[in-house]
Amino acid sequence: MQRYKGTRELNYRVLSNGNKIPPIGYGTDIAKTWRSANSFPTKTYMFIKQYAKSIKNSDKRSIKIDKTLPRIIRNAPQCNCNLFDTARAYGGSEYVLGRELKKNFSRDSYYIVTKLSNFDQRERTVEEALRISLDELALDYVDLYLIHWPQTETYIKSWKGMEEVYAKGLCKAIGVCNCNIHHLEAIKKGALINPMVNQFECHPLFTQEKLREYCHINGIQVMAYTPTGRMDFRLKRSKKLEIISSKYNKSLAQIILRWHIQINNIPIVNTTSLEHLIDNMNIFDFELSAEDVKLISSLNVNSRLRYDPDNCDFDRL
Ligand SMILES: NC(=O)c1ccc[n+]([C@@H]2O[C@H](COP(=O)([O-])OP(=O)(O)OC[C@H]3O[C@@H](n4cnc5c(N)ncnc54)[C@H](OP(=O)(O)O)[C@@H]3O)[C@@H](O)[C@H]2O)c1
Repeated sequence: MQRYKGTRELNYRVLSNGNKIPPIGYGTDIAKTWRSANSFPTKTYMFIKQYAKSIKNSDKRSIKIDKTLPRIIRNAPQCNCNLFDTARAYGGSEYVLGRELKKNFSRDSYYIVTKLSNFDQRERTVEEALRISLDELALDYVDLYLIHWPQTETYIKSWKGMEEVYAKGLCKAIGVCNCNIHHLEAIKKGALINPMVNQFECHPLFTQEKLREYCHINGIQVMAYTPTGRMDFRLKRSKKLEIISSKYNKSLAQIILRWHIQINNIPIVNTTSLEHLIDNMNIFDFELSAEDVKLISSLNVNSRLRYDPDNCDFDRL
């Protein structure tokens, strides 16, 4: 299995603890597909039920599986994809991901990110929650463990637990998601270890300049979720992007993902299509000019597409 092509390997990032991390990953939030499960063909429905049955530790009410995920995972390494982002809150995605990877690939050939859910922050210790994830994933450790949301009452205490599971070797790196500067400053006050990664929403319509700058100054790698802005119509219809796309002879998604690479983000992109996965991962054979990077950044209209961590109901996430 060939994992690296072109200059992808040269684009690996280094975390503050010295560990390397791939420059782009695949997001396995399949919850949205489950919501349309009523329209799945019978065969798919049977598949979902079969997987759901075999899950022992999960809360069965929240199991959300579709047939796309196993197919994508099986084919991901050939498509140059070896970083997978999952979470306790993504239904059965940890289970499917872990089983499919274990069946087909050696542990050192892939990088796994999972997250501490809001429910677990309230109801369990961080170690208990991570051990459930490890069980679901059928792994001894994850490469990166993140706090999913800075839940007001719990995230500072949770960070202590994150430091403990890191010290025990249950994860190779620790970080957070959805943290704004004030959350990161609050964590830093009582921390022995600063978060190594902050995963948050970032795309050309919502570039988060200040937060990205803060992270880079403080040695925190930026992981961008919803990196293509879910291919929002404002991006699809952008004349500027269309011109850049034909100039480099690359698809719109490739141009946006390459922009992430050049502004030092690690984009986590989801797709249900193998064709798109191939496109998305193969963005290391061209380089955008500094001018074009600037032009893409100038599309920013501060348009958040997902939840605002300073204004959301953590119980529902
Ligand atoms: N930490 C957090 O709180 C958090 C929150 C949200 C998301 N995430 C992570 O980020 C991941 C991605 O986020 P997302 O799904 O919101 O946004 P996204 O990856 O920007 O958008 C996915 C959408 O873009 C389309 N797409 C992808 N590649 C394409 C291509 N080459 N050409 C055309 N369309 C393409 C997909 O359609 P097709 O299926 O047709 O390709 C899909 O509808 C999630 O799976 C999750 O792992 C984390």
